[in-house]
Amino acid sequence: MVVIVLSDCVRTICAPKDEEAGGMMTQPVETSAAFDTLLTELRRVHEDHPDTRAFCPFPTDLTPQAMQPCHRPCAEFMAGEPMMEAGGYTVLRDTLLAASPDALWRETYAGTNIGQEFMDRFGCYCIIGAGGQWSSASMSAYMVYMPAGFWYTWHHHPAEEIYLVVAGEGEFLRHGMASERLGPGGAVLHGSNQPHALRTHDQPIIAYVIWRNNLGIKPVLTPPEMLV
Ligand SMILES: [Fe+2]
Repeated sequence: MVVIVLSDCVRTICAPKDEEAGGMMTQPVETSAAFDTLLTELRRVHEDHPDTRAFCPFPTDLTPQAMQPCHRPCAEFMAGEPMMEAGGYTVLRDTLLAASPDALWRETYAGTNIGQEFMDRFGCYCIIGAGGQWSSASMSAYMVYMPAGFWYTWHHHPAEEIYLVVAGEGEFLRHGMASERLGPGGAVLHGSNQPHALRTHDQPIIAYVIWRNNLGIKPVLTPPEMLV
């Protein structure tokens, strides 16, 4: 790991192996206080929202795991956003922001041709699952952030997925279906291997994202021939 000091800002650039290592260490660990607070709020929201509650129960098998914080440029973009409108989800928005300095920010599409701008500005950290503060056999949970005017291109994965918008707004696209523009409290389901994409317009977005089934298989970019 290399630490670069930029004026009063410390940015950590992680070795590629760190993302996998966070989920593989099994020794008992102390969890981050900010993640503990986040987990409490996440459970409350998950069990309160009809769509996330129906998607899967909040896990009862949570096991703390070592997590090496790893910051990427997207973390600073999110921290610098003006306060995003969150409706009834302001507490979850704030706990997601508060946990971000302790998080292992992911590079899901490293090694693809998605481009450096995407890598720098698309933000994701795991809460439950590989690289997160807890493991569970039943689901994975992530925070996803995108700035305004951003395009998260078509991709797919075997895991079924639900997005719950926490703050801001996004236009959700699913192959073969009409797009939906959703704000705080809006939820959208992606089926197994159903190509999907996400676009922001004049607002950024923060979402709570849950996976069930096939948790260990990463997303891949959808080739154009699958979209005809
Ligand atoms: Fe997805």
